[in-house]
Amino acid sequence: MKPVKVGLLGLGTVGTGVVRIVEGHQEDLMGQVGSPIVIEKILVQNVEKLRNIDIDSSKLTTDPWEIIRHPEIDVIVEVMGGIETTKEYLLEALSRGKHVVTANKDLMALHGREILAKATENRCDVFYEASVAGGIPIIRTLIEGFSSDRITKIMGIVNGTTNFILTKMSQEGASYGDVLKEAQQLGYAEADPTSDVEGLDAARKMTILSRLGFRSEVGLEDVSVKGISGVSKEDIAYAKRLGYVVKLLGIAERQDESISVSVQPTMVKATHPIASVNGVFNAVYVHGEAVGETMFYGAGAGELPTATSIVADLVAVVKNLKIGVNGLHGAGAYKERVLKTDEQ
Ligand code: NAP
Ligand code: HSE
Repeated sequence: MKPVKVGLLGLGTVGTGVVRIVEGHQEDLMGQVGSPIVIEKILVQNVEKLRNIDIDSSKLTTDPWEIIRHPEIDVIVEVMGGIETTKEYLLEALSRGKHVVTANKDLMALHGREILAKATENRCDVFYEASVAGGIPIIRTLIEGFSSDRITKIMGIVNGTTNFILTKMSQEGASYGDVLKEAQQLGYAEADPTSDVEGLDAARKMTILSRLGFRSEVGLEDVSVKGISGVSKEDIAYAKRLGYVVKLLGIAERQDESISVSVQPTMVKATHPIASVNGVFNAVYVHGEAVGETMFYGAGAGELPTATSIVADLVAVVKNLKIGVNGLHGAGAYKERVLKTDEQ
């Protein structure tokens, strides 16, 4: 059984989780795909850094091209973050026929179209389940689970860091700054947490969900965004006295033929199911014309929940490899449809 070789870009919070799951669940993964999955090389910034996982140091490199141009690597798992340089790496990998799994919502919200077009050109898969709502398989659900329906609304808590902050401010009276530091230590926050607290991370995720859910070309510039940095303990206490909780909500709605998307702190009635989504948990509510109301709940950030989505994508790529249908399924199927429509 020839192993499937993976190049991992990044060994931080998510990358460490990916190694743990690929190694820890190897036997079960092999049972599903019929080949061992081997992490062949790992890109980091600093090979000397002390890590909380045992890693064969010969696998670490600071040279991205050693991985991207590696003749035996079949799949690139990108969990390093960043936009322009990362885009360059992934485009090069795709042009070499390597499949891509990424957790990078910044990249997919801004340059998803170009990345998916390159994937189509080269018959490659690009899967990005971990880019929205960590461990909740919401991207697959929108693409496959609701392919039969016309979605009218997607609403939810899609940023774990801000929900963690708002929950601790509300339930423990903790200070904004202290909880943000805790979220950073737990690995929930982005490298620059401004994008979490100012709502940009949630806006990028809502852009991705809106494109897939409404099967339309929503851009980040179409999203109105307000974060939680202006929300005080007093605002939260006042809302509580009125029977509400404050949540950073992403709301995307189809109105006739237009789509409106926003991210903003919102007072939610304490009896609404979304009000009881606390800590790092996310929840995505989807309303479809035929299905009615549905809601998906789970950890929205953190090492193992996020890595679960990444490794599930990896399994999907390897299953496609086995039957030779890469570039035709999952997000790829949606991508093909959009490109064909645009070319008409
Ligand atoms: P992280 O802990 O900061 O880890 C980033 C890793 O990438 C580190 O290992 C770092 O190397 C490496 N790296 C960064 N820039 C590099 C460069 N230019 N060249 C070589 N290596 C580089 O980040 P993370 O929290 O795991 O997040 C990674 C990605 O997943 C981001 O796109 C993030 O938005 C997304 N994501 C994160 C979560 C989460 O819960 N954390 C959830 C969903 C999605 P060193 O270790 O040597 O510094
Ligand atoms: N910083 C992000 C969050 C990570 O807190 O939700 C998961 O995408």
